[in-house]
Parts: sequence; structure tokens; C-alpha cells
Amino acid sequence: MKQNISVVPLLFSRDWGLSAKMLWAFIKMGKTRITPKRDYHYNHMKNLCLVYFKLTPLCNLRCIMCGQWGDKGKMKNLSLSEEVKKIVPLDRYKEIIDEIAPRRPVTYLWGGEPFLYPDLLPLAKYMVDKGLYVSVNTNGTYLEKYAEQIVRDKWSTVFVSLDAFRETNDAIRGAGSYDRVIAGFKAINREKEKQKSPYPVMSMVTVVTNRNYRDLANLTEASREFKPDLHIFNLGTYTNDTIVAAQRTFMKEKFGIDIECLEGYNTDYNTGIDVHKLHEILKDIHQKNYGHPIITVPALNPEKTETYYSRLETPVRSHCIVPWCQTNIDYNGDVHFCADYPDFILGNIKEQSFREIYNGDRANLFRKTINACEGGMFPGCRRCYQNMLFGRKIRGY
Ligand SMILES: C[S@@+](CC[C@H](N)C(=O)[O-])C[C@H]1O[C@@H](n2cnc3c(N)ncnc32)[C@H](O)[C@@H]1O
Ligand code: SF4
Repeated sequence: MKQNISVVPLLFSRDWGLSAKMLWAFIKMGKTRITPKRDYHYNHMKNLCLVYFKLTPLCNLRCIMCGQWGDKGKMKNLSLSEEVKKIVPLDRYKEIIDEIAPRRPVTYLWGGEPFLYPDLLPLAKYMVDKGLYVSVNTNGTYLEKYAEQIVRDKWSTVFVSLDAFRETNDAIRGAGSYDRVIAGFKAINREKEKQKSPYPVMSMVTVVTNRNYRDLANLTEASREFKPDLHIFNLGTYTNDTIVAAQRTFMKEKFGIDIECLEGYNTDYNTGIDVHKLHEILKDIHQKNYGHPIITVPALNPEKTETYYSRLETPVRSHCIVPWCQTNIDYNGDVHFCADYPDFILGNIKEQSFREIYNGDRANLFRKTINACEGGMFPGCRRCYQNMLFGRKIRGY
């Protein structure tokens, strides 16, 4: 199987400026990994390399496995009219960008569906103009409408979610979504050609579940037509009752808080996967040439695919470095380290500066607590996507 490092030449061939921004983030991440984990009396802004902005709770789709809007999605229990009132206005985001831009973190805009944040385009443009690497994760259904401006504004990367070929994808993500996404890809490709621009790098992201794994090859075959620059297979975020219970007890004991978010991933879409078949499918895909790099996150020893899906208590990555170099700003201004499990709040950008929050007592309490845990992670972190990306590979996995 190709290694995930295979995407690096793609970025370098695209544009030196873009590559330099990415490289700078990798350097800071590497530094975080090798230096002793600090908590109090350290300016953590020095190592800030990635900031997620979850711009809106709203979404126009209801993908079944989604922790926010899926079968067990947390957002389904909230009053949307109340949540929408809390959305951070563009001007406050601009102030935060001004504050963090000198540190040159990579930025990642997501949601909900980020195109439902009313000022997505001006915000992304402001970030690009400030010299930041701007990536946007979208369900792709609005790409066609805004293609001209996205290319003109030089977004760095767009991560588009697509889970299978038409019929299976639409059973997961909603009727008509496949065709809308493909129309979006083609519109961006046309604009890139017309405007003679290499931006944005178009990446497709596929979450592997028991509903789509048999259809992954059909999707990659179909991708020859709409030509993504990169395809990422995300093996999926899953949990079970035992892990949720352990996390609940832990967070109560250590921080005195209740948890709401992990349960959203307790979906069972990991169960019943024929792991040998899945391995064969992924191996075949990786061996063929589709004209773009394909990576799998986490990159797993094939013999451990069964562990990944069936033994959720067994960690495959450890020692999460997120609290020392990254953060997520929620649509209501709350700041968290954990993008998918935003239970522990560090502070709110409507009330404090980013720096105060990121170097504050609550952030340091979190750092100290996770650092003291066995394997440098909490019970609920076992299949967290951030840990899969930024955790330490456990030997043999
Ligand atoms: C929550 S969505 C938000 C952005 C946008 N609405 C979208 O769908 O791309 C962010 C990413 O999480 C992925 N996702 C949804 N459910 C997941 C799960 N159970 N495990 C891992 N990733 C998941 C989505 O497919 C998408 O790529
Ligand atoms: S489009 Fe994204 S946020 Fe919306 S339900 Fe699907 S995965 Fe969740």
C-alpha cells in the first residue's frame, strides 16, 4: 500500500508558497511531538499549527453515521433556532484571525455544513489575504454555485465528502447528493482551467462504514471522470457503550462535566464488516493508478483492520498531541481541543482573546490531565479522527 507521505510531492508540485505553509505546520507539530509536554507557564501559541473553525451547527444533509446529524447525532436534541443565535459574527472571526495569523497555523473550516455560515466566502478570503493556508471541509452540495469565487479567492484545499458511488452514497448522505457533488467537482475543475489557477487542491474524503465498504472501488473508478487531486479513506470514528461509559465516568471525575458528544459515534456502522474483503478492496485500490494519490487514515497494518472495527477498546494510536498544537473553535465561540467531542470548554472567543484561552488554566488543566493518562489519551479517544491523524502509532498497528 502507498504510504500517506505520497501526498507530499503533490503539494510541493502545486505551489511553493502552499507547501511552505504546510511544512511550517508540520515542523511545529514535530516539535510538539518531541519536546516534553508542557502545561503551565509556557506560551503555547508558539506551537499553534492547526485551528479548526466549526462555523455553523446547520446542515442540509443527514448522513447516517454523522456524530452531529446522523442516527445518534447530538444536534438533533438541540433547539436550532436557539443555537443559530449563538453563531460567531464575521467581525469577531476577523479579530481572531488577526490574532493568530502571525503564528501561521493551517486553518480548517467545517461545520455542520460550512456553506450555511452566511459569511463563509468573505471569511475564507480574509484568511487567504492574511497569508493563511485555508482548507474547507464540505459536503460538496454548494460547490457548483460558488465555484467561480472559490477559485478566484484561491482557497488552498477543499475536502469534499463522498462515501460511495451514486446509489450507495445517496442511501448514506441523501437523495441527489452524489450528482450535486460531482457537478461541484466539475465546476471547480472548469474554473481552475478558465482562471489558470492550481487552487484549490480538490480532495475527496470517504468514511468507511459497513454500508459502503463493498462499493469503495466503484467510487474510485468513477472518480476518473471528475478527477480529484487526492482521495482520503477515513476508516471512521466509532465507539461503543463500554467506552462511552468509561469516558463519562472519567470526565465527571477529572473535570466534573457530563459528556454529550461521544454517543453520536455509537452507531454500530463498524459492525459486520468483512475485514478481509475490506483489506482486499483497499489493497486493489492502492495498487491501481487512478491519476491521483490515495491515502488511508489511519494507515494501518492490514492485519489490524479487524482490531480497528471490532475491538474498539484496543488503541491503535496513542499520545494525542492536539492540546499542544491545535484547537477547535465552535460555532458559538466555545474553544475546545477535541473537534468531534467538544465537551470540555476552554473558554469563549466572544469573552476572551484566543491567547488567554489557549494559555489559560482550563487549557492547562486539560493538558496536564491527558498527559498523566495511560497512553497519553482519555478512554473515549480510541477511534478519534484527530488521534488517528496526530497520535503516535502503536507498534504493530
Ligand atoms: C461532520 S462533517 C462536516 C463537514 C461537511 N458537512 C461534510 O460532510 O463534509 C466532517 C467530516 O466528518 C465525516 N464524518 C461523518 N461521520 C463520521 C464518522 N462517524 N466517522 C468519521 N468521519 C465522519 C464527514 O463525512 C466529513 O468528511
Ligand atoms: S453533511 Fe456533514 S455535517 Fe451534515 S450530516 Fe453529513 S457528515 Fe454530518
